[in-house]
Amino acid sequence: MEDRKRTKLLFVCLGNICRSPAAEGVMKQVLLNKGMSDLFEVDSAGIGGWHVGELPDSRMRKCGAARGYNFNSRARQFDTDDFRKFDYIFVMDNDNKNMLSQKTNNERELAKVKMLVDYAASHPKAKLIPDPYYGDEKDFDYALDLIEDATNTLADRLAKGGEL
Ligand code: 4NP
Repeated sequence: MEDRKRTKLLFVCLGNICRSPAAEGVMKQVLLNKGMSDLFEVDSAGIGGWHVGELPDSRMRKCGAARGYNFNSRARQFDTDDFRKFDYIFVMDNDNKNMLSQKTNNERELAKVKMLVDYAASHPKAKLIPDPYYGDEKDFDYALDLIEDATNTLADRLAKGGEL
């Protein structure tokens, strides 16, 4: 399929080394499992540029590997041009949302920014995907639980078509 016809999904967190590269990797696998890969382009980015070029945090790579994922993207910083390039931009928490919202130029760009946790149907009380960077293994596992839940629901919603 031609690139311009693909729906473009971007996952954004603060550093692009823990949550968003995991969301990118899980979403790619979910789409593959559901036979939907050809219809989508999936990427991730960080609001900050501290870790540009790095692989995901070793703790996230280890927790992901235990579930069969290989998180191997390289960190990059969010660019305001991403608002134009991507159809949907999924953030992890309200800080991410506020920081991105400040960079938008219009309502159309703002409407692309969604909270990923809002799609975590099996975790209805969760309000954010907490930053595990200063946490331990269980915090990374919890982030992955939410990400797996949300990306599966998201893929099903996208398969049905229409607006998210
Ligand atoms: P992430 O986690 O936003 O899930 O990638 C973080 C990683 C690094 C930093 C903050 C959050 N940091 O301050 O370096």
